[in-house]
Amino acid sequence: MKDLNKLHYFEVPTVMKHALGAVNHLPGELATLGVKKPLIVTDQGVVKAGLLDMVLKPLKDAAVSYVLYDQVVFNPPLATVAAGTELYQKNDCDGLVALGGGSSMDCAKAIGVEIAHGEPVLEYECAEGKKELSKRIPPLTCIPTTAGTGSEVTLWAVITDPARQYKFNVGGPLIAAHLALVDPLLHLSLPAEVTAGTGMDALCHAVECYTCAYAQPATDAVALMAIEYAGKYLRRAVAYGQDIEARYYMAMSAMLAGLSYGAESAGAVHAMTQTMGGIFPVHHGIAVGSTLVPVMEYNWMGEPAKYARMALALGVDTFGMTEREAAFAAVEATRELAEDIGIPKLSALGIKESDIPRLAQEAFNDPQTIGNPRDLTVEAYEQIYRRAL
Ligand SMILES: [Fe+2]
Repeated sequence: MKDLNKLHYFEVPTVMKHALGAVNHLPGELATLGVKKPLIVTDQGVVKAGLLDMVLKPLKDAAVSYVLYDQVVFNPPLATVAAGTELYQKNDCDGLVALGGGSSMDCAKAIGVEIAHGEPVLEYECAEGKKELSKRIPPLTCIPTTAGTGSEVTLWAVITDPARQYKFNVGGPLIAAHLALVDPLLHLSLPAEVTAGTGMDALCHAVECYTCAYAQPATDAVALMAIEYAGKYLRRAVAYGQDIEARYYMAMSAMLAGLSYGAESAGAVHAMTQTMGGIFPVHHGIAVGSTLVPVMEYNWMGEPAKYARMALALGVDTFGMTEREAAFAAVEATRELAEDIGIPKLSALGIKESDIPRLAQEAFNDPQTIGNPRDLTVEAYEQIYRRAL
């Protein structure tokens, strides 16, 4: 802990339940939450993969009413949130079910903010001059269809403001889901590249939160286990999608990594990738995978002991190594993992050398730059971007 005078807190407003077939418990869980007519928030990818049907079947069998909003797009913009809010109000819904990756879960959280406060979610951006959340969102159940964002347990939603080409954060305990219902059977059909990208996102949340200035014992504990599971199971989940054990533990890795955020934010990788995602239509997880290793190369000197500990979690035998060697072994182990699972360079995502000055400046301005384990400048971001290209 960097600041022992600060009053640290760790709050988890979300009940976590998980099992193979967990979605079959949805009707009972909704009844427990007092929800009679949820708005189901999802996207077309989930619908086409047949995952929506897996969730609707138990609802239909139990004669639970619901309204469907299946128009979420990735990096959801304000208009996507507003359309969901309108549908919720028009149909007198009394709760939310998010089914999808970070985009659907964050969109549902943002709809919840608009319903609870009666104002656009933009008013509650985590920024100076904006309002703080004052009301709990309606009962929200998050059912993740990827093992990555951990949004099912985080206190954050990330929404895109197209006018500024900027992804902003909104958050606090009032926005958290009431229930995270994790069913690894929903993850079996994920394509390898999505498994790889989202898995690197989970690993990155844990790496950044374990080493950032806000780390505290409660977040350290969950972060290390999230890193260990990702190190052990991500290759298997990418290599053989039907590997249920690997899928289960990657789902747990993502959930624990989401918890490792605590009430705080991440670091340089998320400052870079969130600002990048506001400008270019890049997949968050793959962008994270492409920038994680170059950021770790830069950051390890700020937290050498914690980097050395991460090497152990990633399965490296650090016996006989100096702290510096072990710290760098964590970076190398992450590089090998990224290479093994086919994480591309940033240039493959369409980012060009000429984009770097703007991207570096935007990352530097992002609030997640504060808290990174090593001091950053615009020039340092440019250097990291060049290595990621
Ligand atoms: Fe992320």
